[in-house]
Amino acid sequence: MPLSPDSPDLSSASLVQSVRAALQQHPSQKGARLILTGFMGCGKSTLGRKLAQTLGLPFLDTDKQIEKETHQRIPDIFSLYGEEHFREVERQVLELCLQQPQAVVATGGGALVEQTNLDLALQAGWVIYIDMPPEQLLERVLFSPKDRPLIDVPNPEDVFFQRFEERLPFYQQAHVSVETAGLRPEQAVDVLLRGLLAYFNSQQGAV
Ligand code: S3P
Repeated sequence: MPLSPDSPDLSSASLVQSVRAALQQHPSQKGARLILTGFMGCGKSTLGRKLAQTLGLPFLDTDKQIEKETHQRIPDIFSLYGEEHFREVERQVLELCLQQPQAVVATGGGALVEQTNLDLALQAGWVIYIDMPPEQLLERVLFSPKDRPLIDVPNPEDVFFQRFEERLPFYQQAHVSVETAGLRPEQAVDVLLRGLLAYFNSQQGAV
C-alpha cells in the first residue's frame, strides 16, 4: 500500500524516503532528474537548491551555467547579442544539464517554453511547474535583486503579463504542478515532495 501524500502524519523523513524510493524504483529511464519550470520570480532556484539538499542530489541552475559557460552576465548577453542568441545558448546548456544522471535542475523562465526544449525535458526527467498567480510573481520580481532583461523596459507590467499568458500552456504540460503562493521555501519544498509522491502513486503500474 503506497504512503498517501495527503496524510498530515507523513513525517518529513518518510516523505523524503518515499520520494527517493519512487525515483529509484520507477521503471522509466528518467531516474532522479527533477526539472523545475515556471515564470520568472516563482522561486525555482531557491526551491531547487533546497529540494536538492533535501533529496541529497546535485543542484544545477541553467542561468548560472550559462554565465559560467559564456563568462558573461545574462543581461550582457541580451544587450550584446539579443534574445535569440541567448535562447540558443540556453538550449545548449539545458541539453548539458539534462545529461547529468541525477540532479535537480532549475531552468530559466523561458527555457521550457519552446516545445522542443520542453519535450527534451519531459523525456529526460520529471518536470515540475511552480505555479503562482502572475500578480504575485510581478510583485516578487519588482523587489528582486536579480537583473531580468526582459522586464528592463519602460512598461514591464505589459511585457510581464503578455509573456505569462503565452507561456502558461507550456508550463501546464509539466508532469507535476505545485501551488506555492504564500508558502515559505521549506513549506513549498514539502508541498513539492507531496506533489511528486502523489504523481508517482497515481502512476503505479504505468511506465
Ligand atoms: C528569463 C528568465 C530568467 C533568465 C533570463 C530570461 C525569461 O530566469 O533566464 O533573464 O525568459 O523568463 P528566471 O526565470 O530565473 O528569472
